[in-house]
Amino acid sequence: MSITPVPRVAVIVVAAGSGARLGAGMPKAFVGIDEHTMLRHALTRVFDGPEAQVIVVAPSGREGDALTDVIATAGERRELASVVTGGASRQASVAAGLRALWGDVEVVLVHDAARALTPPAVFERVIAAVDAGHVGAVPVLPVVDTIKRVENAQIVAAVDRSELSAAQTPQGFRRGILDTAYRSADREFTDDAALVAATGHAVGVVDGDALAFKITTLADLERARSLVARHPLGHAHAQLENASPIPRVGVGTDVHGFGGEGPLWLAGLEWPGEVALSGHSDGDAVAHAIVDALLSAAGLGDIGTHFGTDHPEYAGAHADVFLARTLALLGEAGCRVGNVAVQVQANRPRFATRRTEAEGVLSAALGGAPVSLSATTTDGLGFTGRGEGVAAFAMALVVPV
Ligand code: CTP
Ligand code: MG
Repeated sequence: MSITPVPRVAVIVVAAGSGARLGAGMPKAFVGIDEHTMLRHALTRVFDGPEAQVIVVAPSGREGDALTDVIATAGERRELASVVTGGASRQASVAAGLRALWGDVEVVLVHDAARALTPPAVFERVIAAVDAGHVGAVPVLPVVDTIKRVENAQIVAAVDRSELSAAQTPQGFRRGILDTAYRSADREFTDDAALVAATGHAVGVVDGDALAFKITTLADLERARSLVARHPLGHAHAQLENASPIPRVGVGTDVHGFGGEGPLWLAGLEWPGEVALSGHSDGDAVAHAIVDALLSAAGLGDIGTHFGTDHPEYAGAHADVFLARTLALLGEAGCRVGNVAVQVQANRPRFATRRTEAEGVLSAALGGAPVSLSATTTDGLGFTGRGEGVAAFAMALVVPV
């Protein structure tokens, strides 16, 4: 039997949260992505990364389940792993993990089990940054959404997104710095980087990874499920990176009836003087058919998965919001848009004079991907022929990047 040397790096995997926002009726880390739990997926990738002491922080009463996931994933590193009981807040759970560190550990990474698909390379980048002299390092991604400062339901300022980054985990620190910061913490901080920064230390950044997204809501879980379903082996990222570059097609349709409030919005354009379509958002059947076609091509579910009525933020939203969000989802899944073709069946509005304009607006919302739009009437037949509503049919091609 070999004696494993004590590693100088430790990873604390916090998995003790209740998952209130996911609402699965059980602690989030034990919710299945496929036949395996979120925690097991997170640990598979942790143990695929650099050798480290691994401390799993489990909810009280779930330590045995956490150990099962450790045993299933640790392989030859089993002796490096242990399970401790978490606390009432994430910060208390990290503190419980810190108490279990071995003496020789010099660099500590804190990782959310909820970021279950984080690839091993992110761990390597964080450790390398701390080894290069940073007090701490955090993986970040640029912010893609347009950000507004809102007060009393009104936009009070636009925020320059080039100044902003979205922080992920694992967040890594010199052990002494993190220990001291936790001992002196007198309130709850949003993450470990904020806690360390409050002690006056500058924390560095490394490139994050779209796959390190946090599973918070049901839509996040659906996204994780479809990513894992397409790449069923544990090593999801290597699979994604090496995915065959064959393009994939998708199809989407949508129908909305006339009778909504305000002006008509269709194909990303406002149509003054035309009767509005009804719907949870602006009723833009063209945009919604395109969203469905893109999600279908990327294997990311459908419009209800990501924009359903349980997302009040999309009430009244126009095509640009739907398409920009869809584009971001595709980016996270490692796809870009090849092209989109969409056909509208409607008596009104008449697209002849605005077809090119609509194509331009839809294409711009998709980051410049070509969009072709055609429009037809149905010879007086069916609900479109009777002028009761519009139907749209879209096809999309997406290309793995
Ligand atoms: N966490 C923890 N102990 C807590 C609270 C959270 O270990 N008392 C962990 C979670 O298990 C998760 C990570 O911290 O891996 C990030 O927290 P979050 O995504 O907020 O998870 P939950 O707190 O479980 O979810 P919610 O806030 O929706 O209840
Ligand atoms: Mg929480």
